Amino acid sequence: MERDNPHRFPAPLDNRLRLCASFVRDGTRLADVGTDHAYLPVNLACRGKILSAVACDVRKGPLENARANILRFNVEDKVKTLLSDGLDEVDPDDALDIVMAGMGGELIADIIGRTQWLYDESRRLILQPMTRAGTLRSFLCGSGFRIVREKACLSGRKCYSVMLCVYDGKKRECDHRFEYIGMLGEDDSPEARAYIDMIMSKLKRKINGLRQSGKENEAAYYQDIYNSIDRRED
Ligand SMILES: C[S@@+](CC[C@H](N)C(=O)[O-])C[C@H]1O[C@@H](n2cnc3c(N)ncnc32)[C@H](O)[C@@H]1O
Repeated sequence: MERDNPHRFPAPLDNRLRLCASFVRDGTRLADVGTDHAYLPVNLACRGKILSAVACDVRKGPLENARANILRFNVEDKVKTLLSDGLDEVDPDDALDIVMAGMGGELIADIIGRTQWLYDESRRLILQPMTRAGTLRSFLCGSGFRIVREKACLSGRKCYSVMLCVYDGKKRECDHRFEYIGMLGEDDSPEARAYIDMIMSKLKRKINGLRQSGKENEAAYYQDIYNSIDRRED
């Protein structure tokens, strides 16, 4: 399925987007929400991995960058740009796999929550929150989405989590451990360890700050969460 391309190689992806790309099904129709430069759909189209993609963004500027990349790599027959707040303007038939990467976890949860057609077992959500991953995990658990896979990666000097989610209608409990580290708690990879270390360092800083301000009760609350995560050697 490799196609003629004036540039011989697809647009390069960093580890974070590469991990997102690895969760996308071969031959799918993809929606990339918050696409910015459209690196992800352009890369997948160049490699002949997807049937089509809609590269969406809420702002015109990013879509101009996206359009330039689409033309540069000669994939305009496969990848279309679309001005859309979340998935509001997206045709559900064009979005069997949906990537939302590089946005905050609350925003991702909000977009999912208001898009009823995502509550459908045949679709896949590939989610990479930049912040508030715990808020997103809680939302998914409480809204009938199962996190089927979760992997961590290091990109630059930062550590990220990417989740593959499918709707099955079952609402799940989300204890604090799962809220903070998700499925990475069962993953022995160095990347998962690095993610958990990052979460624990943040919690430790928060606990120390609360103790220094005399907020012992709040500090104790977060210390319990910290202890529940710190069971890796059990
Ligand atoms: C940091 S970039 C992420 C780009 C790319 N997805 C990545 O992970 O590298 C976030 C993009 O999300 C877009 N965005 C923010 N809110 C959005 C919304 N409600 N709907 C669609 N796009 C949105 C921004 O305009 C921006 O281009």
